[in-house]
Amino acid sequence: SNTTTAFPDGFLWGGATAANQIEGAYLEDGKGLSIQDVMPHGITTPRTAGPTDDNLKQVAIDFYHRYAEDIALFAEMGYSTYRFSIAWSRIFPNGDDAEPNEAGLAFYDRVLDELEKHGIEPLVTISHYETPLHLAEAYDGWVNRDLIGFYERYVRVLFARYGSRVKYWLTFNEINSVIHAPFMSGGINTPKDELSPTDLYQAVHHELVASALATKVARELAPNAQIGCMILAMPVYPLTPNPDDVMAALTTDRTNLAFGDVHVRGAYPGYYLRSLREKGVELDITEDDRRLLAENTVDFVSFSYYASVCETADASKRVTGEGNLFPGVRNPELRASEWGWQIDPVGLRIALNQFWDRWQKPLFIVENGLGAKDELVEVDGIRTVVDDYRIAYLNDHLVQVGEALEDGVEVMGYTSWGCIDLVSASTAQLSKRYGFIYVDRNDDGSGTLERFRKKSFGWYAEVIRTRGAAL
Ligand code: BG6
Repeated sequence: SNTTTAFPDGFLWGGATAANQIEGAYLEDGKGLSIQDVMPHGITTPRTAGPTDDNLKQVAIDFYHRYAEDIALFAEMGYSTYRFSIAWSRIFPNGDDAEPNEAGLAFYDRVLDELEKHGIEPLVTISHYETPLHLAEAYDGWVNRDLIGFYERYVRVLFARYGSRVKYWLTFNEINSVIHAPFMSGGINTPKDELSPTDLYQAVHHELVASALATKVARELAPNAQIGCMILAMPVYPLTPNPDDVMAALTTDRTNLAFGDVHVRGAYPGYYLRSLREKGVELDITEDDRRLLAENTVDFVSFSYYASVCETADASKRVTGEGNLFPGVRNPELRASEWGWQIDPVGLRIALNQFWDRWQKPLFIVENGLGAKDELVEVDGIRTVVDDYRIAYLNDHLVQVGEALEDGVEVMGYTSWGCIDLVSASTAQLSKRYGFIYVDRNDDGSGTLERFRKKSFGWYAEVIRTRGAAL
C-alpha cells in the first residue's frame, strides 16, 4: 500500500479488448473473414488455407451476444472507459467493398448505447490484428498502396457514423509489430521468410500514411475526436555497461520509438533512414505522403506495456527470451510469467518518462496485464478465482504509473488488457487468462461461457473507487 494521490480526477480507468479475441459470431450478420479466421494457433503456426473448427475465435467469449451483460460488469467495477476494436470485416466484409455492411455498423451502435447507459467513455481501436482476409489474399495486405484507400473508406464510415459518440480513437494496434508479425499485424500474406525488406518497410510506410490520413479525416468529420497512435512499448536495456551494448540497446529501442517519432513529429528520423539505407531499402514516398505525415500528427500517444528486454552487441551473450511478439535478450535480474514475458513494473515508469521527455504528448496506457492460468474455485459458496498473482502484477505496475504522474508525466488513463478473459493473440489460447472476469471456456472449446468475478475484480473496483489510494 502507498499513499499516492497522484491520479487526477479525470484519469480514465478501464479495461481493453479486441473484436477478434472476444466477439465470436465470426460469420454473423454479414461479417467477412478476417486474417484471424485462418490463424487458429496465433502466430505459432503458419496460416491455414481457410477457416478450421479448432479456431477458438469463431465463438471466442461470445461478446457479440453477451456485450450488455459484460459491459454491466465493467460498470460494476467503476470503469470510466472501455477500449474495444471494431472488426473491419464486419463493416467491409471483403475490405474493398463499395458499400459498408449496415448490420455490422448496427452492432457497434448497440455497444455504444450500452456504454452510454453506464457513462463509460469508449476508446476505439480502428484496426486490431483483424484485416479482412480478402485484402491479405488479393493485395498482400499493407504491402499494397491500395490499402490506404480501403482504410480511408473504412475510417470515413466510422467517423461519420460514430464521430459524435466516440472521442478517443487509435489508428492501428501496436503499429510497430508488423515488422515481427507481418501477417497478423499487416495482413501481409507473403510468408515472413520470403518477404523482402523493401516490401516490409513499404508496408510500414503505407500504414503510417494511412494513420495520418485517419487523423486528417477525423479533423473533417469528427472535429471533437482525439486521435492516438498505438505502439507496443518494450524498453530495451543494455545487457552490460559496455558502450557497445548501450548503443545496441538504443538502436533496438529505436526500432520501436521510430513509430512514435513519425506520428508525433510528422517525418522519418535520420537514424531510421540510415537503417533503411543499410538494408538496401529505397522507399516509394510521394510528395503527398510527406505532406500528409507532416500535417496530421497525433493528439496523444498510446501504448501497450507488458515487459522489457535486454540487448547486447556481443552475439555470444545473446540468450534469447520469449516476450510478447518481439524476441529479446533475457534480463538476468527479472522474473518471467508462465509464458516467458519478463515482469518489470519499473519499466513502465521508464517508458512513461522516456515517451514524455521525447514527445511531450499526453500518454495513454491502453494495455498492461498478466497472462496466467487460473483455477476456478468455490469460496463461501461463490465460484471465483483467487488471483493474487494478477493483483500483485497490476498493483506493482499501477504504483509505477503513480510515480510517473509524480514525475510530471501527463497520463490520460489506464486500460488493463483482457479485462474479461479472451483468446490470446500470440498463442490463441483461452487458458492464458488476463481478466478480472473469468469466462468458463477452455482450450478444447468446452465450457458454458458463464462469467465469474475473480478476486481481482473487487480489488480493481476499490482501486478505481479510491482513485489509486488503495494501491
Ligand atoms: C498485445 C495485443 O500484443 O498483447 C493483444 O495487442 C494481445 O491483442 C496482448 O492479446 C497480449 O498478448 P497475448 O499473446 O498474451 O494475447
